[in-house]
Amino acid sequence: MSKKVVLAYSGGLDTSVAVRWLKEKGFSVLCYLADVGQGQNFGIATKRAKKAGAYKAVIGDLKKEFVNDFIWPSLKAGALYESEYFLATALSRPLIAKKLVETAQKEKAEYVAHGCTGKGNDQVRFELSIGALDSRLKVIAPVREWDLPTREAEMRYAKLHNIPIDVTRKKPYSIDKNLWGISIESGRLEDPWLEPGEDAYEMTKPLNKTPDKPSYVKIYFKKGIPVAINNKGLNGTSLINALNEIGGRHCIGRSDLVEDRLVGIKSREIYEAPAAKILYEAHKALESLVLDRETLCFKELVSLKYSRLIYDGLWYTPLKRAIDKFVDSSQGSVEGTVNVKLFKGNAIVAGRKSPKSLYKKELATYGKGDKFNQSLAKGFIEIFGLPYKKF
Ligand code: ARG
Repeated sequence: MSKKVVLAYSGGLDTSVAVRWLKEKGFSVLCYLADVGQGQNFGIATKRAKKAGAYKAVIGDLKKEFVNDFIWPSLKAGALYESEYFLATALSRPLIAKKLVETAQKEKAEYVAHGCTGKGNDQVRFELSIGALDSRLKVIAPVREWDLPTREAEMRYAKLHNIPIDVTRKKPYSIDKNLWGISIESGRLEDPWLEPGEDAYEMTKPLNKTPDKPSYVKIYFKKGIPVAINNKGLNGTSLINALNEIGGRHCIGRSDLVEDRLVGIKSREIYEAPAAKILYEAHKALESLVLDRETLCFKELVSLKYSRLIYDGLWYTPLKRAIDKFVDSSQGSVEGTVNVKLFKGNAIVAGRKSPKSLYKKELATYGKGDKFNQSLAKGFIEIFGLPYKKF
């Protein structure tokens, strides 16, 4: 009996060639196709996997788990990498890794494989996650090993072995998409001076084609999680899809970033994440209403650290779990509604309200009904400034 390997299969050129390459190396290949909301045609991909030589192709609908166990924790923590990236790709990796491990265990396979190159973050994320979940599994990364240095060489290999590939590839970029956003790199984007053409974007309309009238969305949060928009209760997947749709129409959530990869390379990548941008702004606005000053300050530090844990593939670690506990304990009062105005590429918070609000009009007002005792301020300043007077 040949050795079994579970391959994270995307349906693209790299992983299709990988199926065949693994077979040549004596493996029986099971292709695992993860549905994380990328809106892919899984029928075509499954057929391609079989044609390339897989003995089985399994599709996993991971959308719900992705939202509840990965996206919401990231949103609650306020994770944003290098001020621009909502971590869509990075968040999907530990989930896909978990499914590879589960599938390998079920299938009694000793090997798992992925189609990442040796230059990116994703190889690290997959392998750290797999290692943490089942350290007995051996990982193979064909793209890192094979002697097919260019896309053209891979195409020749595919042709030679009758692997059906999409030759009419529409976009000259490397793209990774899921519910939480899309990551686009390579091709002409490799010159950080060149402005991305509109052809690079797909979730968002060009700025000059957005409506001249703003749209408003009222987002209702409970325990830090968005559960309704415009008074309509929605499950996580539908809520995110709806915000991607309307946000995309107003060109919300684009970013263009030269980012620092874990492996030491600076790379230029552009992102689209309409729902993530809208929800991030709304959640932040609600927190400013209901959290006390010191918790807010501490949460900023946590956000920074949490974004790095996600980026660096450290999802299944004690620190990540501990931070989740802190974040969850901070979210009890994050309940209420934020009204967000979407207009010409901007998600602008227009209003916020909460039954748990710490905002007290009678303290803040410069008008009638002021209850703040201004005479106390003198003594407060005296003592607060004492060290500096001495200095
Ligand atoms: N730079 C992003 C990350 O490391 C996305 C990587 C995948 N990007 C892509 N266009 N295939 O998380």
